[in-house]
Amino acid sequence: MTHVTKTGALTPERGAQGSVGDAAEPVSNPWMFFRRWIANPLQMGSIVPSSPMLCGRVVAQTRRAPDEAVVELGAGTGVISRALLDSGLPPEKLWVVEIVPAMAAHLRRVLPGVNVIEGDARLLAELLPASVLGKIGTVICGIPLVLLPVPEQRRFIDAIQAVAPGRGFLHYSYCVTSPLPTGKHGLAAKREAWTPLNFPPASVWRYTSAA
Ligand SMILES: C[S@@+](CC[C@H](N)C(=O)[O-])C[C@H]1O[C@@H](n2cnc3c(N)ncnc32)[C@H](O)[C@@H]1O
Repeated sequence: MTHVTKTGALTPERGAQGSVGDAAEPVSNPWMFFRRWIANPLQMGSIVPSSPMLCGRVVAQTRRAPDEAVVELGAGTGVISRALLDSGLPPEKLWVVEIVPAMAAHLRRVLPGVNVIEGDARLLAELLPASVLGKIGTVICGIPLVLLPVPEQRRFIDAIQAVAPGRGFLHYSYCVTSPLPTGKHGLAAKREAWTPLNFPPASVWRYTSAA
């Protein structure tokens, strides 16, 4: 059974929050998430993992050709990753990057077969193998960019554009307006989806080059 539509969009199958990977450990782990937020609120950007509704919204905007990969930056405890797998994305086509070692270890346990990279997404081009470069359908950025100064935001955007030139990227945020200053970054923003069923209510933005 394939879950990839003719437009290449993935179709959400079911909620991810309560899903369990092949391993017995639950994916969501809100307690681990909350403890990391206390330790570093700016790095986490949220006190709880994304809701099943937000995960579904992100999945619905994720596009890829059959031979292309999906890259998720800031995977946290893996709820969006799990929703992507539930939509039919083969685990070997999913690359997730997470900077917190305990979370990366959790992701390896609950997402068997997924390519989990423990590292800083600003170094994305060095983290991904050459075989993936140029074969990325969608980059999903979960890192709370709105909390960063513009030059720091730029480092993440440059890293994404280096590995997936011309593809743009998805970014979910609690902002009503664009979380990124598009003019300063030479980007065009489109608010693809919104859900009140997240804490806080969230939007999915698609950023593409304005040029
Ligand atoms: C808002 S949480 C999103 C978590 C998850 N994707 C979800 O939707 O529940 C942001 C995540 O980005 C990670 N993160 C922050 N800075 C990062 C960086 N430079 N490189 C990789 N991951 C980073 C944090 O550790 C955290 O897990």
